[in-house]
Amino acid sequence: MNQSVSGQRVVITGAGGGIGRAFAQAFAAAGARVVINDIDPDTCAASATELGVIGIAGDAASVDGVARLIGSAREELGGIDIYCANAGVEGGHGLNSTESQWANAFEVNVMAHVRAAQQLVPEWLERGSGRFIVTASAAGLLTMIGSAPYAVSKHAAVAFAEWMELTYRHRGINTQVVCPQWVETPMLDGARSVGAHIDPNIVLTPEFVAECLMQAISEEQFLVLPHPEVADYYRARAGDTQGWLGQMNLLQQKLTPPK
Ligand SMILES: NC(=O)c1ccc[n+]([C@@H]2O[C@H](COP(=O)([O-])OP(=O)(O)OC[C@H]3O[C@@H](n4cnc5c(N)ncnc54)[C@H](O)[C@@H]3O)[C@@H](O)[C@H]2O)c1
Repeated sequence: MNQSVSGQRVVITGAGGGIGRAFAQAFAAAGARVVINDIDPDTCAASATELGVIGIAGDAASVDGVARLIGSAREELGGIDIYCANAGVEGGHGLNSTESQWANAFEVNVMAHVRAAQQLVPEWLERGSGRFIVTASAAGLLTMIGSAPYAVSKHAAVAFAEWMELTYRHRGINTQVVCPQWVETPMLDGARSVGAHIDPNIVLTPEFVAECLMQAISEEQFLVLPHPEVADYYRARAGDTQGWLGQMNLLQQKLTPPK
């Protein structure tokens, strides 16, 4: 059992399925008290029942939705110790992505995290502890061929997590950012449909990603990389950005061009 998680009160957004559901299962198995959320009330209720945790359906991105979720979770749990801003959307392709696809990507992949932090941080500062976990993506450290809104919004998600960690770490608030490449969830089908380059050999299970998160919590690691090779790509990108972009462009040329 993960001692740093046992007894903690945890909220996980976008946990009706996929990575969020696996996080919920891992936290519950580690002795945490868990609330899961999803915008889809059916998957939220089904997963809550199956995992024996509390389900609170609703939008975890809008100002009102985040306030409602955090208010209800505080009532259910008596407080929140760990918040996993996990809900994410893939929507959009290239320059043909619509205004609403760009707006939705920023709402769910970025502003949801900012709004949750606004609600949680004052209480955590007073108490001197709290843990904020963002599920971003390797696309937030590198890029994602085929989807500009996803790549750009996930970079913003990583940047926000970094800002949280450097601003509040010394005051007891730990932030972590989870940056996988491919994980076998419904979102992967969306990525396939926009012509993303998916090597089947590197597709992980959501359960493995959850194991990596649990390990990173016990080791207090900010950057959670279920695919460790992402660290090498990240270094290569920083060390030779021109060369890295050239390689990515060659990869793009082999795939369906974005519209
Ligand atoms: N699957 C991958 O390959 C992969 C890779 C890297 C990062 N991620 C990230 O992991 C996170 C989880 O995605 P997943 O792969 O489990 O996909 P998923 O589509 O299975 O799960 C995302 C969940 O979020 C919910 N959701 C969407 N908008 C919401 C909102 N406004 N409020 C509440 N819930 C909302 C969806 O209903 C869905 O159940 C996302 O942030 C995603 O970007 C996924």
